[in-house]
Amino acid sequence: MSHENKGTALVTGASSGIGEVYAERLAARGYDLLLVARRLDRLDALASKITAATGRRVETLKADLGDRTDVARVEKRLTDDASITLLVNNAGISLDGSFLDNDSEAIAKLIAINITAPTLLAAAAAKAFVARTNAGIVNVASVLAFAPEMFDGIYSGSKAHLLNISRSLAVQLKDRGVRVQAVLPGATRSEIWENAGKDIDALMPGMVMDTADLVDAALQGYDRGEVVTIPPLHDEGLYEAFEAARAAMAPNLSRKDVAPRYRA
Ligand SMILES: NC(=O)c1ccc[n+]([C@@H]2O[C@H](COP(=O)([O-])OP(=O)(O)OC[C@H]3O[C@@H](n4cnc5c(N)ncnc54)[C@H](OP(=O)(O)O)[C@@H]3O)[C@@H](O)[C@H]2O)c1
Repeated sequence: MSHENKGTALVTGASSGIGEVYAERLAARGYDLLLVARRLDRLDALASKITAATGRRVETLKADLGDRTDVARVEKRLTDDASITLLVNNAGISLDGSFLDNDSEAIAKLIAINITAPTLLAAAAAKAFVARTNAGIVNVASVLAFAPEMFDGIYSGSKAHLLNISRSLAVQLKDRGVRVQAVLPGATRSEIWENAGKDIDALMPGMVMDTADLVDAALQGYDRGEVVTIPPLHDEGLYEAFEAARAAMAPNLSRKDVAPRYRA
């Protein structure tokens, strides 16, 4: 347990799964906590447990991140509370089925929770954190950002968005004392699967990580200063090759002349 005070970490979706482990680990690392989700009973039980174990100050905040008024309340807290030095944008949902199976309401809800809320919170944090020391923004994306064909495209698209804004924010905040990390879990055992009508046990057991391992690895990646952390990817060279291909393409993506293959 750490006795230093690193400020307060605001963790969204701390009432279960990955967010719950983040809360425990960050308290052990010396953060006070502000835990956000809809299920206040679960947040309060976790807060009592963490305070008893670590002596850290843990506050809970009930908010529905699919609701813009609630998101604005959390944004305001990030802006006004100078003790907050870390945002873990973790809350997220998945869908039962794909584009063809979901109505507009379900799709809009996913976009509100997985894209709009974390983007607005990251923006509020970015603006506020430049004036705070040792600050950071962690966005929990997914390996599906790289593999949209493997799953439903709406969820994977939301995670590609988080990866994209993390890379951009990392560049914008690099010299301003704010660290930005996108965490890309693979299949991880949590309630998100059952809530979306999916059976995680249908996957091969070797594909499924535990939440504790995932968060511990993600924090190692944070300590290493990584912008993108992919805990299940053993061969780092695969990611480096992907990044090298992206970097090679970048200077060639805007030209006055049409590429020869598109000329009539
Ligand atoms: N598990 C995986 O296989 C996996 C893989 C890749 C990425 N991820 C990502 O990891 C993150 C955490 O998911 P998890 O696996 O830990 O699932 P989880 O156990 O279902 O946790 C999701 C969390 O998000 C919160 N949440 C959902 N809707 C919300 C809303 N409208 N307002 C506020 N909070 C809301 C939930 O709290 P309340 O219900 O109490 O509001 C819960 O605390 C998500 O962003 C997910 O996309 C998970």
